[in-house]
Amino acid sequence: MAIREILKMGDARLMRQAQPISSFNTPELIQGIADMKDTMLAAHGAGLAAPQIGWDVQLVMFGTGQVISRYPDAPPIPFTVLINPTITPLSDEEQNDWEGCLSVPGLRAVVPRWQRIRYTGFDELGHAIDRVAEGFHAKVVQHECDHLMGILYPQRVKDFSKFGFNSILFPELAPEKSA
Ligand code: NI
Repeated sequence: MAIREILKMGDARLMRQAQPISSFNTPELIQGIADMKDTMLAAHGAGLAAPQIGWDVQLVMFGTGQVISRYPDAPPIPFTVLINPTITPLSDEEQNDWEGCLSVPGLRAVVPRWQRIRYTGFDELGHAIDRVAEGFHAKVVQHECDHLMGILYPQRVKDFSKFGFNSILFPELAPEKSA
């Protein structure tokens, strides 16, 4: 168990195309996942991608243990480890909603994402994952998988009038979960 440093935007290790994982259930993989989970929980994150701790593999994790205040109607997302993911949009419909990132602390922006997706991949034991997700769940998965392509959410912003500091944009709200 170890809380790792979360790399911040500008670090070249966040801009790499992450490498696929070929061996499952190895001690290195299980240890890395345990460290990531400790790091995500300590940072109150809704998700974390391996590149954010400098680990150059196609692995993300996400999950919300409770309802998010900004999305009171969104069902909690089960804690999930997703390896070598693929995402397929299931319609042309987009959602535009606020997003933050643990690698871009203190800031938030409205980012367009697919509303409804199918995502596939593997868990840490190599078992296949194949799910349909929409809304907040779909948004978190797209955000995390972007990290594996070296993309941070500011690169997805279309309307820069909706990009700023949490404390200015939402002074009345407690800090929201970032990913
Ligand atoms: Ni992020």
